[in-house]
Amino acid sequence: MADPRSDTDASDAGCDGTCDLDGTAAGPDRRTFLKEGLLAVAALTAVAGASVPLEAMTRSYRVGATTGAATLTYPIPTTDGATIDRANRVILIRYQGMVHALARECPHKGTMVDWQPEQNRLYCPKHKSTFTANGTRIQGKSPRSMDRHPVTLENGKLVVDTLRVIEGDAAGWATTGVKVS
Ligand code: FES
Repeated sequence: MADPRSDTDASDAGCDGTCDLDGTAAGPDRRTFLKEGLLAVAALTAVAGASVPLEAMTRSYRVGATTGAATLTYPIPTTDGATIDRANRVILIRYQGMVHALARECPHKGTMVDWQPEQNRLYCPKHKSTFTANGTRIQGKSPRSMDRHPVTLENGKLVVDTLRVIEGDAAGWATTGVKVS
């Protein structure tokens, strides 16, 4: 992928050349021009940094093609277990009367976590971290429990906000989820 700073560098070089070719006495000398140019480059870089997509800032490991949807709606699972939305990297878990919406990326290195129904647990195949059904860390290299998305009940449907992430074990994590029975 192209380095976003390369455009800025090229534009800076082009400006420098114009300045040299112009050479009018009324214009800024080379040192002043370069100084002002560098300040302009710094300002452009700051603007470019501020325009980083919200998704990239809130989802550390979200890479590749996704639907890009921010708010997702799902039917309430009728039985305990996991429903994996692979396109949006969400795992819906119904467990002990609660539904949790887990970010599917492993908190360690972002590998996609899978559900192992025979063991009633979530499993990361990369470094073998394991989690209980509701995403609580059991063991492995993952530094924390699985991250969760806020989920609410609206008109009998589950609504998941995928642009908000509550990191595993952080404040509010334990209470993130909805009671369904
Ligand atoms: S990426 Fe999951 S344990 Fe390392």
